[in-house]
Amino acid sequence: MDNQAIINKTVSFVQKTLEKAEGGHDWWHIHRVWTNARRIAQTEECDIMVVELAALLHDIADAKFHNGDEEVGPETAGKFLKNIGVDENTVIHVQQIIRHISFKAGFDKATFYSKELAVVQDADRLDAIGAIGIARAFSYGGFKGREIYNPNIEPNLNMSKDEYKKSSAPSINHFYEKLLLLRDKMNTATGKAIAQQRHQFMEQYLTQFYSEVKFS
Ligand code: ADP
Ligand code: NI
Repeated sequence: MDNQAIINKTVSFVQKTLEKAEGGHDWWHIHRVWTNARRIAQTEECDIMVVELAALLHDIADAKFHNGDEEVGPETAGKFLKNIGVDENTVIHVQQIIRHISFKAGFDKATFYSKELAVVQDADRLDAIGAIGIARAFSYGGFKGREIYNPNIEPNLNMSKDEYKKSSAPSINHFYEKLLLLRDKMNTATGKAIAQQRHQFMEQYLTQFYSEVKFS
């Protein structure tokens, strides 16, 4: 199978698997990350096939929705890719990227690094910030039944990984606990430039938000 056919098959597989996914993690999230990844890859020296496959498969089985099992994603992706005849090295590399892409993994000491991971991670992070990031945060919060804003619950910047997972804080706190931190975590020059603009937009949004919700 040629590369284009492999990509087409992967697109169909991901679309089908994510048919019933929640709004922030649906096919269109994957589509945006894939598009961002190709754009960033243009300015980096990297294996575009690994970048595209990892972008397409990075949320194939989010641990959040599988009782925290972090291996379901890499396993599902690996099985699929092997099945359509993708070479072993590519499969292993894509699986490594899926394991290491998440924000929380990013906090831990890096145990794996590649340029392709850097590109896909930037692409995924970009979709968590700016106007689309704002939409996803409130969509995710709604899905989890969280409050939008509660003036009595301050953002907590010192939560451990586990506390963060269990926290039921209002969605607006998520900006301080995660979204505003992403700009400084970008790996690539192109990623940084796009993140800068999206970051400014979020700050503008928050200024407006607090001017509207102040009680006095
Ligand atoms: P991704 O799919 O981009 O790797 P996550 O799975 O961590 O990211 O989260 C998916 C989306 O839901 C992101 O836009 C993220 O900001 C948002 N999200 C995650 N946790 C929270 C939370 N506690 N409150 C509000 N939004 C959240
Ligand atoms: Ni994602």
